[in-house]
Amino acid sequence: PRQVPEPRPAPEPQPVLEPPARAAVFLVVTVRHGAEQQVRDVLENLPGLQRSVAFRAPEDRLSGVTGIGSEAWDRLYGGPRPAELHPFRELNGARHRAVATPGDLLFHIRARRMDLCFELARQLLTQLGDAVTVVDETHGFKYFDERDLLGFVDGSENPTGEAAGTAVLIGPDEDPDFTGGSYVVVQKYLHDMAAWEALPTDEQERVIGRSKSTNIEMPDDVKPADSHVALNTVTDADGEEQKIVRDNMPFGTIGRGEFGTYFIGYARTPSVIEQMLQNMFLGEPPSVTHDRILDFSTAVTGNLFFVPPAGFFDDQPDPPDQPGAAAAEQADVAVAPAAAATEPATHGSLGIGSLKGASS
Ligand code: HEM
Repeated sequence: PRQVPEPRPAPEPQPVLEPPARAAVFLVVTVRHGAEQQVRDVLENLPGLQRSVAFRAPEDRLSGVTGIGSEAWDRLYGGPRPAELHPFRELNGARHRAVATPGDLLFHIRARRMDLCFELARQLLTQLGDAVTVVDETHGFKYFDERDLLGFVDGSENPTGEAAGTAVLIGPDEDPDFTGGSYVVVQKYLHDMAAWEALPTDEQERVIGRSKSTNIEMPDDVKPADSHVALNTVTDADGEEQKIVRDNMPFGTIGRGEFGTYFIGYARTPSVIEQMLQNMFLGEPPSVTHDRILDFSTAVTGNLFFVPPAGFFDDQPDPPDQPGAAAAEQADVAVAPAAAATEPATHGSLGIGSLKGASS
């Protein structure tokens, strides 16, 4: 008799659905050309590294999520690629700009205590050594009552339970090779606190679309169309609200006057977050030019990453074929110039490619 195959269990996701953390380290790094294999090896060991640190304080919920950028994906892996992975799309609004900045890998490290986050980040970067360059490192904390540094409670409208999974995890009928994966967008925002604090509270509330003290959303007929909440309430063609999962963190350096929000949003398709960004930076409807939160908040980074399911790093796809390397072998020359030849001429700001070119 023919055996009916058992339905395969859904792959375990990375801990993207952790409850909001108390502390976080956000690391965005670029991968040195030629160091791809070294990075693959470290990523394979990462779950073990995380266990080593987490096990010392299990009640404090250390978790780490690793995201891979579009260009890095093609350097690290051959075979199928996540259907919607592409570089972060810069937006140039009439007044404000969502910049795209370099970033091959994201490590989103969370816990109830900063020491655990710090230790995992330190061990991880020690192992990665000179294979990567840290392009941004932000240490975030939770402020009173889950407030951001603008003083508003941040995160209330996050979906929870099953709705959160539906919002952020790729389903089997969407991208079968990457079921259980997710996409993540990060942007580091710096606030103009002097300008913000000069606004009376009722005006600040009209910027956000919620009450500052009670955290209650304004009724639709009162909420301004250019408020943050109005512009981030997006629906699909059937009128169904499209949700994302955020775990923004305040950060800052008081002596330098630096006060910020590190925005992080997960979704099962980047298009939902991109729609929100378009609404914020380009405005919607046309009478609205931008989200007023941007008059007090400047995005200084912007990246999109794919977050593979948890088991991905134990059994990573083969590396891509390297036509440059094969050609070099045939021509019986050393491999190093071939690695330089596969480097996109425009990559990065370090100019390593041109240096290599000059010396060969
Ligand atoms: C809602 C703060 C950037 C998406 C909110 C709320 C606050 C807030 C206070 C209301 C409470 C709640 O969390 O539901 C901020 C700050 C930001 C920022 C300080 C950076 C300066 C972003 C960005 C996006 C975004 C870049 C999307 C790309 C959302 C969404 C909601 C929200 C989807 C919920 C809307 C709703 O359903 O009511 N944000 N946010 N936020 N924000 Fe942001």
